[in-house]
Amino acid sequence: MRSIDDLDVHGKRVLVRVDFNVPLGADGDAAAGGVPLVSDDTRIAAALATIEELRAGGARLVLVSHLGRPEGKRTAELSLAPVADRLRELTGAKVTLAPSVVGDEVTALAEELRDGDILVLENVRFEPGETSNDPELAKELAALADLYVDDAFGVAHRAHASNEGITHLLPSAAGRLLEREVKTLTGILEHPEHPLVAIVGGAKVADKIAVIERFLAVADVVMIGGAMCFPFLCAQGHTVGTSLCGDEDVEHARSALLRASDSHTPQPGRARLLVPNDLVIGKRLAADAEHRVLDGVEVPEGWMGLDIGPKTVERYASVIASAGTVFWNGPMGAFELEPFAAGTRAVAEAVASAPGLTVVGGGDSAAALAQFGLEHAVDHLSTGGGATLELVEGATLPGVQALEGAGVVS
Ligand code: 3PG
Repeated sequence: MRSIDDLDVHGKRVLVRVDFNVPLGADGDAAAGGVPLVSDDTRIAAALATIEELRAGGARLVLVSHLGRPEGKRTAELSLAPVADRLRELTGAKVTLAPSVVGDEVTALAEELRDGDILVLENVRFEPGETSNDPELAKELAALADLYVDDAFGVAHRAHASNEGITHLLPSAAGRLLEREVKTLTGILEHPEHPLVAIVGGAKVADKIAVIERFLAVADVVMIGGAMCFPFLCAQGHTVGTSLCGDEDVEHARSALLRASDSHTPQPGRARLLVPNDLVIGKRLAADAEHRVLDGVEVPEGWMGLDIGPKTVERYASVIASAGTVFWNGPMGAFELEPFAAGTRAVAEAVASAPGLTVVGGGDSAAALAQFGLEHAVDHLSTGGGATLELVEGATLPGVQALEGAGVVS
C-alpha cells in the first residue's frame, strides 16, 4: 500500500475518506430541539494523526465520511454537523461543513480552502451513488481534490464510491490509521509472538465462526465466552436451560470442537479450544432478575446463562497472563447489566494488564473497555467492526485492495 509518505501534499487539496460513523447523543431534551452531540469520539480522535500530519504538510483537506445508513436520502438526524463541531474542538482548525456532498456550492467551498483548512462534506450516504459505487459520484468527489487518502478502516470491507471508485481517479494512498490497523491485525495472524491467545465472545457462533476457525489454525489457545458458549456446551452434551442456542450455531460449534486440539502439547495448526466450566445464571435478561453462580455448566430448566463464572475467569486470566499476543473480540456476558458484568470486566482487566501485545476488535469489546475505563490500557483498539472481523477471517477488503491494486493512478 502507498502511504502519505509517497504523496507531495503541500498546497494541494487532499480528499480524505474517514470513518466518522460515531454514536450521537442529545444535548438536553431532543424532543424540545436539543442539539445532538457526539457521544463517543474515539473514531474522530483515531483519524487525527492523519489529519494533523496532512495539515502540517500544508494540505487543504476535504473530509468525506458516512454516518449511519440514510439509504441515499438526506436525513436531518444523520447530518455530520455535530461531527464537524467536535472536529473543530479537537483540531482548532478552520472547519467548515459543506451543505451537501457534491455540487456547485461544495466545489466553491473546496476552491476557497487555504493550507491547513478543513472542509467536511455532508454525509456521503445521502447520495445513492455511494453504496452502489457509482462512477459518476466518484468522479464528482475526485473533482474536489488533487489527491486521495483513505483512512476509513471501519468501512474498508465495503466497495463504495468514496473508498473504492475514487482510487481509480486520483493518486491514492493509505492514511496512518488504516495503515496501522492493517499492519497490526495481519501481523498478529502472520507473525505473532507465541503463545497467541484469542478470546472470542458475543451472541452468535455463526457471526464469528470464520474468526474462530482462523484462530484455531494459527493460535495456541482459543477461549469462548458470551452467549456463544452455549452452542459449544450443547454440542458437548450439557443442558443449557433457556440460554440462546440455535441449531445452526450448535453445528458450527461441533465442527470447531472437532478441529481443535485436546492436547496440552502445542500442535501447529491446531489450537486448544477452551469453553467455560462455570457460569452466572439468571431467570431472565434483566438487572433485577434472580441470579446466582452455577458451579458447573449444567444450566437448569427455567434459567439462562448470562456470564462466565469465577472459576472460568481465573482459568482464562491465567492463560492471558502468559500470552505473547492476545486478540479479544466480544464480551463474556451481558456486561451492560451489573449482575452479569464481572466476567467481561475481569477479562478486560486481564487483557489490559497482559505483558504481551494486546489487540482488541472494535464494537462491543471497545464499549466494554470504555465502561471499565480501560480503553487506553491495550496496545491496539481497532476502530473497525465488520472490517476487523473480515480482515481477521482472512477476507480481502475491497477498500484495502483498492490502495494496492492496479487501479491506483500515479
Ligand atoms: C461500522 O460502523 O462498522 C462502519 O462505519 C461501517 O458501517 P456500515 O456497516 O453501515 O457500512
